[in-house]
Amino acid sequence: MNIAITGASGFIGRRLLKILAKDGHKLHVLSRHAGTNLPNGVRLSVWDAMKGPPPLDALRDATAVIHLAGEPVAQRWTADAKRRIRDSRVLGTRHLVAALEQLPQRAEVLLSASAIGYYGSRGDEILTEDSPPGAGFLSEVCAAWEKEAAAAEALGVRVTRLRVGMVLDPRGGALQRMLPPFRLGLGGKLGSGSQWTSWIHLEDLAALFRFALDRPAGAVLNAVAPNPVTNSHFTRELSAALRRPAIFPVPALALRAIFGDMAEVLLASQRVVPQAAQAAGFQFRFPQLAGALANLLRK
Ligand SMILES: NC(=O)c1ccc[n+]([C@@H]2O[C@H](COP(=O)([O-])OP(=O)(O)OC[C@H]3O[C@@H](n4cnc5c(N)ncnc54)[C@H](OP(=O)(O)O)[C@@H]3O)[C@@H](O)[C@H]2O)c1
Repeated sequence: MNIAITGASGFIGRRLLKILAKDGHKLHVLSRHAGTNLPNGVRLSVWDAMKGPPPLDALRDATAVIHLAGEPVAQRWTADAKRRIRDSRVLGTRHLVAALEQLPQRAEVLLSASAIGYYGSRGDEILTEDSPPGAGFLSEVCAAWEKEAAAAEALGVRVTRLRVGMVLDPRGGALQRMLPPFRLGLGGKLGSGSQWTSWIHLEDLAALFRFALDRPAGAVLNAVAPNPVTNSHFTRELSAALRRPAIFPVPALALRAIFGDMAEVLLASQRVVPQAAQAAGFQFRFPQLAGALANLLRK
């Protein structure tokens, strides 16, 4: 397959790119940086998602497009950061679809990242792909972002939006940030610890992208493992995996003082299940947190 991929220099994209290159796909990366370090044979076009549509040459041969680009969410949410978080996704996806529209022969499939932030904070409610969106900044961003991606359906493109949960790998994302304090025995639950965390092993996420490339797996897929846990449970499992105590809870007030509105992400309760992926026959290699952490921390 010829696959165009945005956000390939990021935490998820780097891994996905390696796997897709190994599978023998022809890859074309769209990045803001010409100097991005790429595996052999991967082509590159410079594109800034916020500035306008990508060069058509980057998409002309593509049979599939994987869209991951977006300003990092895990930063202090100043007004400017919020604008970049929203515009890089909503305008960026609009620009990408506008370029697809201009091509006489366009990609058959678009896999577009979204996030479980779509659901907002929902207590103990079990959330499937059919659950309505929640409230709050991230929920609004995700709904608008997904709407832009879904617009490609009208062009005859099969679109799958992947609502990604907390991706686990020690080389990036949330786990990389958690490891230093937990390794020092300074970890602890966040807020009350009763909030649900829906996580996924990076290898399962990459496998789910490949699965959705190959078959119509659903317009929306919750990209999370089948067994979400509470933050207290996560804290216990991580400290057990590292054989360290985790007795320093971080109060919600402190999180809000440190992270501002971004604390919303850390304190949100999202009990999300991968109903559509499992109904389509996707098998998780790491369905349970203990097994996922044992695998990840062994590396
Ligand atoms: N990691 C997670 O746990 C998680 C959870 C839920 C959802 N997601 C979503 O999945 C996607 C990929 O996640 P990730 O963790 O791999 O992200 P990441 O490491 O932050 O990488 C995202 C990529 O997007 C591009 N980018 C960054 N800021 C940008 C901006 N202002 N405008 C345009 N492009 C920008 C960069 O590519 P270039 O520098 O090459 O242009 C970057 O490598 C994101 O949309 C994220 O929201 C991730």
